[in-house]
Amino acid sequence: MPMTSSSRPVPRRGRAAGASRPAHADAFFRQIVAGMRNGVLAITRAGAVALLNEEGYRIFGVEPHPDDLGKPVAEVLRAHPEVVRQLLSAFDLHMLPNRAEMRLRPSGKVLGYTFAFVRDDENEIAGVAMFFKDLTRVEQLEERERLRDRLAAVGEMAAAIAHEVKNPLAGIEVMAGLLRRKFPDIPEAQAVLVLEFVRPIRLQVEHTGIAEALHAAVQLADTKAARGSIVVAVNVPEELPQIQADHHQLAQLFTNLLINAYEAMDGRGRVAIGACRVQQDDGGEGREAVRIELQDSGPGMSPDVAEHVFDPFFTTKAQGSGLGLAIVRKIVDAHDGQIDLRTSAGSGTLIRVTLPVSVATD
Ligand SMILES: Nc1ncnc2c1ncn2[C@@H]1O[C@H](COP(=O)(O)OP(=O)(O)OP(=O)(O)O)[C@@H](O)[C@H]1O
Ligand SMILES: [Mg+2]
Repeated sequence: MPMTSSSRPVPRRGRAAGASRPAHADAFFRQIVAGMRNGVLAITRAGAVALLNEEGYRIFGVEPHPDDLGKPVAEVLRAHPEVVRQLLSAFDLHMLPNRAEMRLRPSGKVLGYTFAFVRDDENEIAGVAMFFKDLTRVEQLEERERLRDRLAAVGEMAAAIAHEVKNPLAGIEVMAGLLRRKFPDIPEAQAVLVLEFVRPIRLQVEHTGIAEALHAAVQLADTKAARGSIVVAVNVPEELPQIQADHHQLAQLFTNLLINAYEAMDGRGRVAIGACRVQQDDGGEGREAVRIELQDSGPGMSPDVAEHVFDPFFTTKAQGSGLGLAIVRKIVDAHDGQIDLRTSAGSGTLIRVTLPVSVATD
């Protein structure tokens, strides 16, 4: 029978501890558990839910119901039989799991958990409590860390081979084969990025239209990333001069920028690309240049992310290599250009590339 709040249970035995604990202490402890950043689940010996806090519901992905308390745990956690099994079998154990891990079947979430017995005033086991935390993100971070280490190793090795094999073009072929054999677990696309990154750039300079390079990039980006319903608006004025540049390298540069924008926006939003003619500051009279600006409507970056985006192997993505912008920077440098970005969390990202109209040939 559910109890009304006015008929509080009278302790059967004169409980000294209970008597000395003021009524508001219960609310106090309940608040501590409710506000905890760990999941807490407790069941009685009979297998009924005695407590499940908000974080617990969130981690299990279960909708809270006011009458969950008192229900069999097998019913409330229907979706997680592995958790129920562990909890119910805990009463037969002498050593309870401590800092153990399990994977929740439907979501793939990784839980770190500890069990503890709940004892009554006679020190008899009255229930069992489970304290748990969602470790999925920690796992992803570790995974990312591992991948980054592996990629850095690939990069070092590729650079070493490139040094040995003086002809960089022959080197790429040899390297691709060697790297694949040495690091079979590195996804092919990332191995290629590493090769792109360590490979010395040899520009095939020709008169290149920015509009053509952008057009090629939009098509290329579509083959490499999911654009969803993101709108790309390219607005390059007719009178923009052609520049002396490597068409393929420029296309790759803009492709990398577009892919980042798509990945940041997750299927919805807008990328506006504009271009204009400028005088590039060279410390002297300045020289003829074109400026391409790429503005996305994504989430932008925090200052500490923005500071590192051009660093090789810097990534915030679980599966990123962190080489996209490092390669962009390299291509811009090879063209004697400049790149900078303006961004803040919540206001999208503006990337600005300035390329001289004519490159100095050596
Ligand atoms: N348009 C953008 N909006 C928000 N964040 C961005 C944007 N472009 C880059 N970033 C941030 O910069 C980081 C580095 O980008 P970069 O392209 O070098 O590597 P990546 O995209 O993580 O990996 P890869 O390009 O190898 O797939 C990204 O992980 C992301 O955090
Ligand atoms: Mg990228």
